[in-house]
Amino acid sequence: MSVDVIVVGLGFGAAFVPIYQAHPEVGRVAVVDADPTRTASVADRLGITVRFASLEDALSAPGWDAVHLLTPVRFHAAQVQEVLRSGRHCASAVPMATTLEDLDALIAAQDDARRNYMMMETAVYSREYFHAKELLETGKLGRLTYFKGDHLQNLDGYPEYWLGYPPMHYVTHALSPALALANTRVESVRCLGSSRLTPDRIGVAGEGFGTEAGLFKLAGDDLVANVTMSFFQLGRSYLEGFSVYGDEGALEWPQLEGGPMKQFKLEPLADGRRGRPVTEVDVRPGGATELLPEALRPFTDGGHGGSHPHLVHEFVSSIVEARTPRVDARTAATWTAPGICAHQSALRGGAEVQVPDYGE
Ligand SMILES: NC(=O)c1ccc[n+]([C@@H]2O[C@H](COP(=O)([O-])OP(=O)(O)OC[C@H]3O[C@@H](n4cnc5c(N)ncnc54)[C@H](O)[C@@H]3O)[C@@H](O)[C@H]2O)c1
Repeated sequence: MSVDVIVVGLGFGAAFVPIYQAHPEVGRVAVVDADPTRTASVADRLGITVRFASLEDALSAPGWDAVHLLTPVRFHAAQVQEVLRSGRHCASAVPMATTLEDLDALIAAQDDARRNYMMMETAVYSREYFHAKELLETGKLGRLTYFKGDHLQNLDGYPEYWLGYPPMHYVTHALSPALALANTRVESVRCLGSSRLTPDRIGVAGEGFGTEAGLFKLAGDDLVANVTMSFFQLGRSYLEGFSVYGDEGALEWPQLEGGPMKQFKLEPLADGRRGRPVTEVDVRPGGATELLPEALRPFTDGGHGGSHPHLVHEFVSSIVEARTPRVDARTAATWTAPGICAHQSALRGGAEVQVPDYGE
C-alpha cells in the first residue's frame, strides 16, 4: 500500500514535507496553507504540484489517505474532527487540544471514524529519549524514582495567538518522556503560577502567569514529575528537555541547549564512607536511526532531537500496517490533560486537581 498525504500549515510544517516525499511507502504529497504566497514558495521549492487553497478544498478532493495538521493550536480540535469525519487518517502537531471537552471529542472522533489519529509528540522520538529508554531497559537507571521537565521559551513577538498562552497548556514536550518511560499516567497535579502576566501580555485565555511550576503525581508507584513551563517574563535562554532519575543512575538534560547530557552511575558504598560515590560522563546520544528506512535517516540531523522522520515513519507505518499509532487519541489525551489540569490548579492557587483516566 502507498499512502497519499496532505500537509497543512507550512511554517513548522514545511520541514515535514520532504520527509513524506522521501518515505518509501508514501505516494503523492500535497500541501495547504491559508497564505497562498507561503504555499507557492514552499511548493515551488520542494517540487510539489498539488496545492489546495484550504483544508476544506483538500478534504473535498477525491483520494488522499492522510492529513498532517501543523496549523495554529486553536484550530487543532475542529480540524482533526473534520479530517477524521472525511474518512482520512490524521496526524496533528501538539498540543492535541486545550480543553478537557475537546480531548473527549477527539477520542470519540477517532473511535467513530475508525481511522488513525496521532499526536506528533517530538519529545518521545528524540535521540535523548531513545537513550533514556535504552538506559532504563538495560537496568542502568535501576528503578525509576523521579523526573524533571522544563520548557522555557520566550514568546514575546510570536504571532498574536500566542499572547498570554498558558504555559501548562503546552506541557507535553516536558512531561511525556516521564509518562512514556514510566508507562503510566498522571493521577493528580498541584501547580503554582509564578509572575502574573503583565496587562499587555494577557490574551484570549485571560489572566495567567508567565511561568507555571507543577508537581505531577504519577499513577502506580510513588513517582513525581516536577515540571516547569515558562513562556513569558523569564530572563533566560530557551530550554526544552527532561531528566530521569532511578535508584542506580540518572540522565540529566544540559543546562544550556546543545550541551552534552550528563549520565550518572551510583557506585557501591565503600567501607567507612558516607554516601555512595557517583561517576558521571557526558553523553551525546546518536538517536535510533536503525529504526528508520534508509531514505529517512539523513533527516535525523534535523531539529527537535532528530524526531521528525521517526514521527512520519510511525504515522505512515501505522496506516500501512492497519494498527494503532504509538500516540493515538487516548495516549495523546493522557499526555495533554495533565497540563490543562495544571493550569486550572495554578488559577486556584495550587489546589490539587485530579486528572481524568483515558484508559488504554
Ligand atoms: N516540537 C514541536 O512539536 C513543535 C514545534 C513548533 C511548532 N509546533 C506546533 O506546530 C503548529 C504550527 O506552528 P508554527 O510555529 O508553524 O505556527 P505558525 O503560525 O508560524 O505557522 C502556521 C501556518 O499555518 C497556516 N495556517 C493558519 N491557519 C490555517 C488554516 N486554517 N488552514 C491552513 N493553514 C493555516 C499559516 O498561514 C502559517 O503558515 C502549532 O500547533 C505548534 O504548536 C510544534
